[in-house]
Amino acid sequence: MNVICIGSGYVGSVTAAAFSAAGNHTTVIDVDRHKVDCINGGRSPIYEPGLDLLIQDKAGTLLKATDTYHDVHTADVVFICVGTPSLADGTADLSYVKAAARSIGEHLNAERFTVIVNKSTVPVGTSALVARIIEETSGLKAEEQFAVISNPEFLREGFAIEDLFYPDRIVIGTTNLRARETMKVLYRPFVEKLYHDEEMMRRLPISANKNEHKTVYFETDAKSAELIKYASNAFLAVKISYINEIARLSEALGSNVTDIARGMGLDSRIGEKFLQVSSGWSGSCFPKDTGELLATSQKYGKELTIVKAAVESNQQMNQFCINKIQNKLKSLNGSTIGILGLTFKPDTDDARQTQAMTIIKNLLQFGVRVRVHDPKGMYMFQRLHSELPIDYCNDAEDTADRANALVLLTHWKEYRQLDWNRIYHTMKSPYILDTRNFLPATALREMGFDYEGIGIG
Ligand code: NAD
Ligand code: UGA
Repeated sequence: MNVICIGSGYVGSVTAAAFSAAGNHTTVIDVDRHKVDCINGGRSPIYEPGLDLLIQDKAGTLLKATDTYHDVHTADVVFICVGTPSLADGTADLSYVKAAARSIGEHLNAERFTVIVNKSTVPVGTSALVARIIEETSGLKAEEQFAVISNPEFLREGFAIEDLFYPDRIVIGTTNLRARETMKVLYRPFVEKLYHDEEMMRRLPISANKNEHKTVYFETDAKSAELIKYASNAFLAVKISYINEIARLSEALGSNVTDIARGMGLDSRIGEKFLQVSSGWSGSCFPKDTGELLATSQKYGKELTIVKAAVESNQQMNQFCINKIQNKLKSLNGSTIGILGLTFKPDTDDARQTQAMTIIKNLLQFGVRVRVHDPKGMYMFQRLHSELPIDYCNDAEDTADRANALVLLTHWKEYRQLDWNRIYHTMKSPYILDTRNFLPATALREMGFDYEGIGIG
């Protein structure tokens, strides 16, 4: 098929690469010329394990990028993958989606039935909205000459390739039978695992145990599909907020949250995933998606009090971490604190809306000198927060230099293998707060560190 992905960010670039790998002629459209040049040059515009490999392999043959919408004319399926950030009132900013819809409308082909897919995370009713915009700009009739459907994306950054090729479910939201037929054909290789380039698949970062993996292809109406996405993200956020609250209680009671999470997760109804403590969930998705869902529920007089509580609880988690540091150092003013991890999780360069941002801003208000490091996220963090007076360090060891405290916010695996002995001798006071209970606690304590995790009494 001729597939188009509008937006070459964390969703669009991976989606386009995956569809090209499945044998479709795929065009990425982005207004950002730098990203377009990256893809055409065979490079990934973002850091995502395995994506460079895939783009390098397909660029120039089945995959290309452009900053014009001309190819929409020949498309069978057009995926909208642009950003939907939060507005000040918490609702989703649909301006990028609307702009993309107008541009699609200007180039749609009256002779060809095109399926336009909302892959961006959008509020309920956006499929209908996009259809109206396209009708206005193209003069064509929705459902007859084109269809707008919902196909939310569930990939996780850092595992996007695996999630694209081996999704748990593919949700298709439309009652238009022609669109359903097109989507079924397009997704068939992903459901039946019919990837003709086996050699390439072997080189991608996909866990070995995928042979038995089952992907469920699930069809519903557009509104339900749109809400499935928000309901899923909010549910995961609730789960993390819950374990983080249990962590706070556990610490007060003298029990061990890592064991508690394990003991809970062994119940298959609960499951072990998303019970990892942290300084709170963050990133470009959970905060904005819980915000939008909550705002919509309030607008309709059906407030999701559980989601509201999860958001509040998450904010308390930041404060809980700051309090721990404050209790330890007594006075924050004039102290130096090293921060390990600026991204919202490991294996991504995405530094949008991270816990690090909140915690660093807080520490600066207390008069702390902040030194930071992240293996992949420094560039984006610095670009987003150029006003923050913090020291960007070349490596983690440097971050600890003469620090009164070292705080691990993101559990990059390389942080486990640091020269901890050297760090011990360079720190002013060897206090570590490990907000992910990730570092080798016993070994660090034996070295002389004052090591604290979260939720371990
Ligand atoms: P992103 O900011 O990384 O990428 C969006 C891209 O769209 C940018 O490159 C931007 O230049 C481009 N763009 C904006 N307006 C455009 C236009 N009119 N025409 C062409 N290109 C345009 O965003 P993202 O993280 O990929 O997220 C995209 C959507 O997918 C959001 O709604 C998000 O909630 C959802 N989502 C994201 C993830 C994730 O892990 N990041 C996962 C699932 C769903
Ligand atoms: C999340 C969802 O997991 C994806 O299914 C969804 O597609 C995506 O949002 C989206 O809509 O954008 P992602 O944001 O990449 O994916 O990251 P997660 O792995 O879900 O982590 C989100 C945040 O929760 C991170 O800050 C992470 O560190 C934190 N987290 C996660 C915990 O604190 N504990 C956990 O056990 C798991």
